[in-house]
Amino acid sequence: MRYIVTGAAGFIGSNLADTLVASGHEVVGVDCFTDYYDPTAKEENARGLDVQRLDLAETSLDLDGVDGVFHLAAQAGVRSFGDVFPLYVRRNLLATHRVLEAAAAAGVRVVFASSSSVYGEAESYPTSEDATPQPISPYGITKLGCEQLARAYAVGFGLDAVALRYFTVYGPRQRPDMFFRRVCDALLDGGSFEIYGSGGQSRSFTEVGDAVDATISAMERAPAGALYNVGGGDEASMLEAIALLEQISGRTLGVTHVGAAKGDVRRTKADVTRIREALGWEPRTGLADGLTPRGQVPAGFDPEAEQEVDFGRYWRLIAARWWLVAAGLVIGAVIGYSISLGGSQTFKATATIYLGQPYTASGNVPLQNAQTNPSTVRAIAHSEAIIQRVAAECKVKPADFRGGISTQALAGNIAKNGQTAEVAISVQSPKRRVASCAANGLARAVVEKTSGFANQKIANFRKQIFIDEKQVALINQALERGGLSATDQLLLQLRLATTQQDQLSTSQLLLQATQVEAPQVLTGATAQKVTARSRRNTVVVAALIGLILGAIAALMWDGVAAGMSRRRGE
Ligand code: UGA
Repeated sequence: MRYIVTGAAGFIGSNLADTLVASGHEVVGVDCFTDYYDPTAKEENARGLDVQRLDLAETSLDLDGVDGVFHLAAQAGVRSFGDVFPLYVRRNLLATHRVLEAAAAAGVRVVFASSSSVYGEAESYPTSEDATPQPISPYGITKLGCEQLARAYAVGFGLDAVALRYFTVYGPRQRPDMFFRRVCDALLDGGSFEIYGSGGQSRSFTEVGDAVDATISAMERAPAGALYNVGGGDEASMLEAIALLEQISGRTLGVTHVGAAKGDVRRTKADVTRIREALGWEPRTGLADGLTPRGQVPAGFDPEAEQEVDFGRYWRLIAARWWLVAAGLVIGAVIGYSISLGGSQTFKATATIYLGQPYTASGNVPLQNAQTNPSTVRAIAHSEAIIQRVAAECKVKPADFRGGISTQALAGNIAKNGQTAEVAISVQSPKRRVASCAANGLARAVVEKTSGFANQKIANFRKQIFIDEKQVALINQALERGGLSATDQLLLQLRLATTQQDQLSTSQLLLQATQVEAPQVLTGATAQKVTARSRRNTVVVAALIGLILGAIAALMWDGVAAGMSRRRGE
């Protein structure tokens, strides 16, 4: 067959022309070698092909002896707002107009390149050809205009035209302004890649060999007026695609995020049911395969290179969604602060008890008993009977302080023996009065319960002193009455001295019993306001938790957002 391929020096056109030639067809290439990107790259693409330099917006095609026209010449690139729009009108609408005029006049079939851009933010995913086109870029509008123009020529002049909506085609000779080329160039020369927006936007990437097969099948077998999606099977976000190329290359890409590009759609996903049923075409090359063996991945990359954990990538994901991390930090801190406020107001009162040190009756040898064991204090302070009694004294409910009782042994004057003479009893309660009253009540109860030995001793000594005093009084009376023999008088005086001696030592023992041996409340309790949790710690811990959750959300964001948007569309 003899075909004309317009845009034969371009990305898809040159691949198509090569395949047609390789299949034995005669190809006449047409291209006007615009300077949208380096024309020498186009010269290179067109090497070995018969390519005429021709501006289709001004010159009509000569279709004499031609079996079909593949019209791929176009001003490509969806980021097309601003001063460049007239170029899009000229190179797409005006040029296509001339091609269609010529084809209609010659009765020659035209298969032409339209674009997934006509869908804009598509109304559903996967997007079928029946979806309402609503392009959001000037480029997409000119492509939709070309479709409409072809339809008008079909209706008006019987034009046999087939439109192919290509979905982000990639592969050898890809235009240097396109995503994969820029990523590969940056990976090769170590430069930085500018990603538009978050990188979460996704595409149905289509391998150029698959796109060429669909285009030739459309020329050969599609019914007149057909319109097909030509879309790849693998959808990937830009971040996923970067990760894949990093994995294949074994290199790490430096990425900077710039603002989202106007006209750039969030997602494309092709429904290829129609072309599959009509032409038996479907994409065969997955993204990983499409990128690995063909020329798209620059030479010198080693796909077998050992893969390392790429922390840079994780860091980039987090940096792209830094506001999630910041939001996590702030929300965590606010929650922590609220927690530290709510329910944290509490009062603590502490009484200190001197437990006392019992001695033998002679007052020389220290004794150990329940009184000298700090565990006794814990047992008494936590005893339900004591708690109930103290609650009644304080006129509160036992539940108001039961959970807030604690005891702590303090180092005392004989602590080196493993014992302690002082114990603190603390009570925490949301109510100031309850804390003070209960701590003092418990302290008194402990003293009362542990004072038995000392109290008995004190009572005995007092009795002994009373007896001695009586005896001294009697002796003094007898001595004063007189009439005693000299011997009796001496005996009584001796007895008086011994009794006074006894009285003195008993007084000394009484002093020891009251001051040393008897337990006593050393310091009474006064409630102080405390925070149950340290406010600073609570805020810091909650903020850290928020930060970590924010970082996890940032790492997962793109996958979850893509999944949700896929589910919504499907
Ligand atoms: C591509 C072609 O460029 C259009 O000519 C074609 O019509 C269109 O596919 C289509 O399928 O209709 P696009 O999907 O934007 O358009 O493909 P790329 O230029 O490769 O861009 C892919 C994604 O990478 C876009 O979201 C773009 O914003 C992003 N990108 C591209 C960057 O983040 N940084 C860049 O430097 C280049």
